[in-house]
Amino acid sequence: MSGALAEKNILLAVTGGIAAYKAAELSRQYVKAGANVKVVMTQTAESFIPAKTLGILSKQAVLTDGDRDGSASVEHVAWGRWADAIVLAPATANTLAKVANGLADNVLTETLLASNAAVKIMAPAMNDQMWHNPATQRNLQTLQGDGWTMIEPATGFLAEGYEAKGRLAQLETIILTTEQALFDGQTDGQRDAFDNQPLKGRRVVVTAGGTKEPIDPVRFLTNRSSGKMGYALAEAALAAGAEVTLIAATKRDCSKAIHLVLAPSAKEMLTAVEEAMTDADAFIGAAAVSDFALAKPFDKKVKKTSPDAHFTLDLVQNPDILKTVGQNKKSGQVVIGFAAETNDLLQNAERKLKSKQADMIVANDVLAPAAGFDKDTNQVTLIQANQVPIEIGPKSKSAIAADIIHQLVTILDGQ
Ligand code: C5P
Repeated sequence: MSGALAEKNILLAVTGGIAAYKAAELSRQYVKAGANVKVVMTQTAESFIPAKTLGILSKQAVLTDGDRDGSASVEHVAWGRWADAIVLAPATANTLAKVANGLADNVLTETLLASNAAVKIMAPAMNDQMWHNPATQRNLQTLQGDGWTMIEPATGFLAEGYEAKGRLAQLETIILTTEQALFDGQTDGQRDAFDNQPLKGRRVVVTAGGTKEPIDPVRFLTNRSSGKMGYALAEAALAAGAEVTLIAATKRDCSKAIHLVLAPSAKEMLTAVEEAMTDADAFIGAAAVSDFALAKPFDKKVKKTSPDAHFTLDLVQNPDILKTVGQNKKSGQVVIGFAAETNDLLQNAERKLKSKQADMIVANDVLAPAAGFDKDTNQVTLIQANQVPIEIGPKSKSAIAADIIHQLVTILDGQ
């Protein structure tokens, strides 16, 4: 953990969902990372985890509705002001609705309403139907518009006894998001790191996500890539002043200034990339492109037949997008690819540098604990011809993306 949390004041606001017990470990981890933690909780949260537990772990008295009754205390205002970051976790649908509407009917909502913390993070956890309810989605939109950073719930086994979206995100994700948001706040973010907008006037094309190759109208072949690295690269290139086209197989939230083109399959991605590359300065192929697609996807849903019947898919090789861009690159265009490897990282990446005619390969060992698919962190090695490899991380994907963009600037400037 970098020092982004050291001496920072974190107000952990805990509401009453089954995940409330996880607030204990969360506050312990914040304290371990050097932060000052104060906890405010709702009465319902107290029915899931005693205030005493959170008080011992945070090493501070906990603010509860019991403190509010009959006292003329303005503790909630002081606490709200004290916070560098508010972390609302777990956030129930009920409290999200209240905060989105500015209600202050308990000590937690009062504290949040009275706070002007620069960093506000919410980690919702609730039943999947409550999550998908349009009212909840509307409230989440409102909160994001008010400057709240949302950490999406995870999909998994819910208290209701089935698999669905609604579990509190992993604590590691919550900690990393807090770290990143405080770091961004401290330095005015990546925008500061790219203060002089080194990519102003440049066009950058980025690919993201795991491609989806149709089998029939309802099924597809895909892989474990989440698209997070590609989206982080697009954001970093934007922060550096570039005009960014992000060609993604997977839809995620991103800055409105990014020109997002959805291209689920490798063929669709190649068409979109070739069009975008006509006037681009750089290409970053972060997408995990499926190497194979069905020779002929079925027009209708394939039905099962007898139980022991075999069903074989006829696969053909997909176009190699990176290689095509590398082969067709015009003078001045910079091409960067990724190499997700499970063994012989450097040798394979160096081979790829040549075979794809790329200017740089970002190699990552997808089996390393902090690296790879669907994680928020990564650990990579940047490989260029006749240069010493540059090792980066482990750190957040957005911090890695900023380093890759810095390297892109160096390559472009050196041309
Ligand atoms: O050859 P390999 O798939 O290992 O190389 C990875 C790099 O090549 C990544 O940058 C990926 O985006 C790109 N790639 C591609 N088209 C493919 C396969 C991989 O652009 N069909």
